[in-house]
Parts: sequence; structure tokens; C-alpha cells
Amino acid sequence: MKSFINVEDLGPLDKALAEALEIKQDRYKYQHLGRNKTLLMIFFNNSLRTRLSTQKAAMNLGMNVIVLDVNAGAWKLETERGVIMNSDKSEHLLEAIPVMGCYCDIIGVRSFAGLKDREYDYAETVLQQFIRYSGKPVFAMETATVHPLQAFADLITVKEYCPTKKAKVVLTWAPHCRALPQAVPNSFAQWMQAAPDVDLVVTHPRGYELDPQFVGDARVEYDQLKALEGADFVYAKNWSNPGVTNPADYGKITCEDMSWTIDAAHMARTNNGKFMHCLPVRRGLIVTDDVIEGPNSIVIPEAANREISCSVVLKRMLSCL
Ligand code: CP
Repeated sequence: MKSFINVEDLGPLDKALAEALEIKQDRYKYQHLGRNKTLLMIFFNNSLRTRLSTQKAAMNLGMNVIVLDVNAGAWKLETERGVIMNSDKSEHLLEAIPVMGCYCDIIGVRSFAGLKDREYDYAETVLQQFIRYSGKPVFAMETATVHPLQAFADLITVKEYCPTKKAKVVLTWAPHCRALPQAVPNSFAQWMQAAPDVDLVVTHPRGYELDPQFVGDARVEYDQLKALEGADFVYAKNWSNPGVTNPADYGKITCEDMSWTIDAAHMARTNNGKFMHCLPVRRGLIVTDDVIEGPNSIVIPEAANREISCSVVLKRMLSCL
């Protein structure tokens, strides 16, 4: 596997899920694969789970790990071509990337959407530059439009909690005080659509339609309470306006309706549904304290599965070196 961005990069999902369960039984089984191999993790944005779980997965596989926080100690990077570099940005990404590639065998990149220019974000401009110029296998650690390590961990979690029957999974928008990217809901929708035995329903205010390349032909239900009826899993997430129905709204907050916050009354509509969120989560906006602290909240095992999803991805990449 040369890059890991979308669900199809992993091949058949049942095989990937079986591999995840195998690794979960024995996390150190493939430690020989990473001997004398180095993972470089590049962070343009903050992280807790991705940083820790990816490093842990790499260590489980016997790899060395280098972490670079671009905005804390590195030269400030210019990402645009054709500019006169007379600002505070001392180095161009197009030199920095091949230099980074000299020091490692695999690169993970976190680079969020700027939410100003839809075309730039949806072209995955920064990630594609890493793929093109680093000379190394590259995987997304949440980029402008995707968060596949999270979506794979989410799928592992759904399958663990609902191994036999077809699960009704509801992806619901919830309010937030800041404009957030669409990477998590994009990947979640894409992976759940591709997963065996998952019935995905997406619910959000009108105007918040996700990009069809990710959401496919998933059922969209604008009535949140109706969508939640009989749900086995409730996956809450905020996203800013994707600009699909109105390009001028891209990256903006065009709905602040607090009735979308997931509380006990929402969960009461479900089939004793489990509550999921990628974290970090803002309580009182996305979800109430009682729901996230309640017995049906599985946000912690969901986060724990980030180590497993990343282990599968790194194992596949190491096997191809
Ligand atoms: N869910 C997730 O990616 O968390 P971090 O932003 O803390 O890495």
C-alpha cells in the first residue's frame, strides 16, 4: 500500500477487519516488520489521539518514530507556488517535503482544511504534494477532506459492538461554536457506505449536504428525530457548511440550532443505541454530559481502536517497502 487516503486503499474490508481483530489479540506479533524503519509524523494542526495512537502503533511494529510539529520549532512553511517569499515563511514546502523524505521510510500527514477555498481543500493540495515529492509512502492523519484512520477505527468499533446483525448507523450533525472541517463525516460516510452489513442514515440541517463523492447514495433524512428511530449507533459530529448546495457558504456556520444537540431524549428514540464521537468533543454543544458519560457511550473504546486501525495500515505499508 503506497498511500492511505480513502477506503478503497485498504482493499476488501472484511479482510482488513479480520486483520484488525488479529492485531488486537496480539499487538506485537509483527514487531519484526518495522525494524530499522522510521515513521515521520508531520503535524500542521493539533492532535491528541492521532499523535499518541499512531506513535503507539508504530512502536508496536518495531519502528522508530520522529514527530514534527510544523508550527512549533520548524521553519514556517510557504505552501503556495508563485509567491515572493518576503513574509515570515522561511522555507517552501516543495523543498521541505523531499528533505523530510530523506529521513524516513513512511510519512503521516495531518493538515486540516483552511475552509476558505473549497477547490484548494478538496484537491487535497498539501497531502498530494507529500505524495508527489516525498518519494515515500504517505498516509492521512486527517487532512483537508478525509480522516481514514478514524473511520477505520469507527468501523472496527461498530463491528465489535454489533458483530452479527445489520446495524443501523446514524451520522448526525450537531451544533458547534467554531467552523470545523468535513474530514471526519466525509470519511465516516464513505467507510460506512463501503462496510458490510451497515445501513447508514445521514441527518443534518438543509444546506449541510456532504460531498457526493463521500456520501454516495446514503439515505439523507432532514428530520433528525425521525433519522434516530431504531438506530443501533449514533455518530454525532459537527461540520461546517460543505458548500455543496451553495458554494458561497463553504466553511461557514449557517446553522446554530441547539435542538440538534444529542441528549437523553434523542437517544431514547434509538434501539438502545450506542453513542459515538471521534473526540475531542464539546459538551453542551454536540452532546450532553449524561449521554457521553452514560452506559451507552463507547467513545473511549472507539478512541482505543485508533491504535488498531493504524497498526493495520502501517503493517500493510511496511510489508510493501
Ligand atoms: N479523533 C482525532 O483525530 O483526535 P485528535 O484530533 O486528538 O488526533
